[in-house]
Amino acid sequence: VDFDQGDHDHFMVKEIHEQPEAVRRCLRGRLDERFHTAHLGGLELDAREMRAIRRVKILGCGSAYYAGQLGAQLIEEVARIPADAEPASEFRYRNPVIDPETLYVAVSQSGETYDTLAAVQEIKRKGGRVIGLVNVVGSTIARECCGGIYLHAGPEVAVASTKALTNMSVGFALLGIHLGRIRDLSPANGQRLLDGLAALPAQIEEVFESRPKIADAAGWLATASSLFFVGRVRGFPVAREGAQKLKEVSYLHAEAYQTSELKHGPLALISPELPTVAIVPDDELLDRNLTALHEIGARSGPLMVITHQGVDVGELATSVIEVPRNEPELDPILLTIPLQLLAYEVSVQLGRDIDKPRNLAKSVTVE
Ligand code: AGP
Repeated sequence: VDFDQGDHDHFMVKEIHEQPEAVRRCLRGRLDERFHTAHLGGLELDAREMRAIRRVKILGCGSAYYAGQLGAQLIEEVARIPADAEPASEFRYRNPVIDPETLYVAVSQSGETYDTLAAVQEIKRKGGRVIGLVNVVGSTIARECCGGIYLHAGPEVAVASTKALTNMSVGFALLGIHLGRIRDLSPANGQRLLDGLAALPAQIEEVFESRPKIADAAGWLATASSLFFVGRVRGFPVAREGAQKLKEVSYLHAEAYQTSELKHGPLALISPELPTVAIVPDDELLDRNLTALHEIGARSGPLMVITHQGVDVGELATSVIEVPRNEPELDPILLTIPLQLLAYEVSVQLGRDIDKPRNLAKSVTVE
C-alpha cells in the first residue's frame, strides 16, 4: 500500500491525478467487446434474475449518495429501468417498503459507513436483494452484500473522496450497460458506451491540462463567502458533488441547485457578491442552460462555466473550463473532474488543512 504523497503537496491532488489509472483498473476485464456488454463477474445474479428486476434503488451517504444519483440517472437512461438514489442515512430510519423486484445497490468507498451498512441490513432483514459497489475489498458492506462490483480505485487517503467517486460512476455505467444489454440496449449502443468508457482515462488526462485556468478561477472565487453550483438533469449530481467538495475542503458555503429551479426562488440571491459555477454540457438542454446563464448575467452574477469544447458562452463568464466530449450519458463523469481541482485550488489559496478538513472523518463508522 502506497501512502506516500510522491511529488504532490497533498493526497487529495495526488488521488485526483491517479484517476486515469484508477479508471483503467475498474474497466480491466469488464468490457465485453464480443457481446457489446459489461462483464461483471461478482454479481451473483444470472440473466433471468437480472431481467426480473423492475426498479433500481441506490443507497449511499454524502458524496457516495451524489454518485448514486448520477448512477441512477445513467441506469434509467441506458437500461430503461426506473432508478433512484436516496441517502442511506435517511432510508434506514423511515421503515422503507422493501420490494422483491427492486435491485438495491449500496455504494461506499470504505465499505464501513455505518448508515449504509444499516441500510443493507434493513433490506436483507426484509428479504430484499442488495449488491455492493464498494472500493475496499473485504470490507463489512462488501461482505454483507450479495455480490457486487469492486471499484478498484486503490487506497484513498484524503478525506475528500475523488478517485473512488469517479470509479463509482464508472461502476454504475458498467451496471447500466449490463442491465441494458439483457433488455433493449442495442449492440451498437452497448458498444458506443463501451468505447466511451475506454476513452475516459485519456480524456481525464486532458482535463488536467486546464489546471492553470482552474487555479485562476480559484483566485477570484476564493474571495466569495458563498457560491451557487447549478446543473440540470445529468449536470445536477455534478453540481451537488462540486458544492460538496468545495464545502468540505475550503469551508466556503456552497449550495447546489437545479438550473431549472433558479427562477422558482434562488434567482433572488443572484448579485455581484454571489458567484455561480454552472455545469453546461453540449447536450439537448444546451439552449435552456444558456438562457439561464443570461438570466444570471443580467443580474451581474459572476460566472464560472464548465462546458464542452466548442460551446460558445460569449462574454457571459469570467472563467470557462472546457472538457472533452464523451457520450452524453457518460459526460457527467468528465464534468466532475474540474470541480475536484477547483475545490483543491480554492483550498490551497485559503491555506486549509486539505487532507484532513476540520470536523470530518474519512469514514463515519458510528451511528
Ligand atoms: C466525500 O468527499 C466525503 N468525505 C463523504 O461524503 C463520503 O463520501 C461519505 O461519508 C461516504 O463514505 P463511503 O463512501 O466510505 O461510504
